[in-house]
Amino acid sequence: MLVSAAEMLKKAKAGHYAVGQFNINNLEWTKAALLTAEECKSPIILGVSEGAGKYMTGFKTVAEMTKAMIEELNITVPVALHLDHGTYEGCYKCIKAGFSSIMFDGSHYPIEENVEKTKELAGVCKGLGLSLEAEVGSIGGEEDGVVGMGECADPKECKMIADLGVDMLAAGIGNIHGKYPENWAGLRFDVLDDIQKLTGEMPLVLHGGTGIPADMIKKAIDLGVSKINVNTECQLTFAAATREYIEAGKDNQGKGYDPRKLLKPGFDAICATIKEKMELFGSVGKA
Ligand code: G3H
Ligand code: ZN
Repeated sequence: MLVSAAEMLKKAKAGHYAVGQFNINNLEWTKAALLTAEECKSPIILGVSEGAGKYMTGFKTVAEMTKAMIEELNITVPVALHLDHGTYEGCYKCIKAGFSSIMFDGSHYPIEENVEKTKELAGVCKGLGLSLEAEVGSIGGEEDGVVGMGECADPKECKMIADLGVDMLAAGIGNIHGKYPENWAGLRFDVLDDIQKLTGEMPLVLHGGTGIPADMIKKAIDLGVSKINVNTECQLTFAAATREYIEAGKDNQGKGYDPRKLLKPGFDAICATIKEKMELFGSVGKA
C-alpha cells in the first residue's frame, strides 16, 4: 500500500534523520528502489517527474505498477509515490491516478500566485489524505525540462507558504540539480537556519542531492532537512555500470542480447547508490 509522506517526514524531523526521495524511470528503477528500502528497513519516497511519468506511458501506469510491485515483492516499509516538481495540471492528474504524495512547484510564479495555488492544493490533498510539498526560491540547473535560476529562498516567504497546510517545504539554498560545478559556492546554511527558525516543525526538503558532500548533508539534516532528493546520481551509476559491462565484453563479447542480463549491472548499481544514501541520511532501520 502507498502511504502519504507526512507521517514518515514528521518522524524523520523529530528523529534527526532524512528520508530519501529517489526518482524512478522504469520498472527496474522502481524495483531496485523498493527492494533496497526493504533491505535497509527504511521508509522511501519514489519521485516521478512529469517527464518520467510520460515516459512510463502515464501516471496511472506508474501508480498501478508501483502498487502491484509493493504487493508482489512483499514490501513492508512505508512507501510514498510522489509527483516531483509538478505543474498545477500535473498535480491534479497524479491525484486522479492514485499517487500518495504531490509536489506543486509554484516557485516560478509570483509569490501571490504560488500562495494561491499551493493553498488550493493543500486543501485538496488534506481532504484526500495525500501529502503536499511546496517550493520557494528555486533550485538551480535543470531536471527533466524544469529549469531553475537558483535564487535563494526568502525565509519570510517560506513561512507564508509553510502556513498554508503543506506537509513539507523545499527551499532554494544554493542547491543545484545535476552535477555541481567545480566552483560551486556550497549550501547557504545561514538561509537554511533562518528558514528553520521561522517554520519550526515543518520538514524541509533538500533538492539536488547528487554530489553534495557528506558533511554538508549532515549539517543540512541538523538544520531541519528531513527529505533529500536524489536523481542524477542513480542515473550516473546506472550508466557507468551498464557501459562497463558492455565495454568489458561481459555481454558474451557483444553477442548477448537478453535485456534482463544487460540491465542487471545497472540495476545493482542503483541498489548500491540508494543504500549508500540511506546510510548517509540515517534512515536505515527507521521503518
Ligand atoms: O527533484 C529531484 C531532485 O532534486 C534530484 O536532484 O538530480 O541533482 O539528484 P539531482
Ligand atoms: Zn528537484
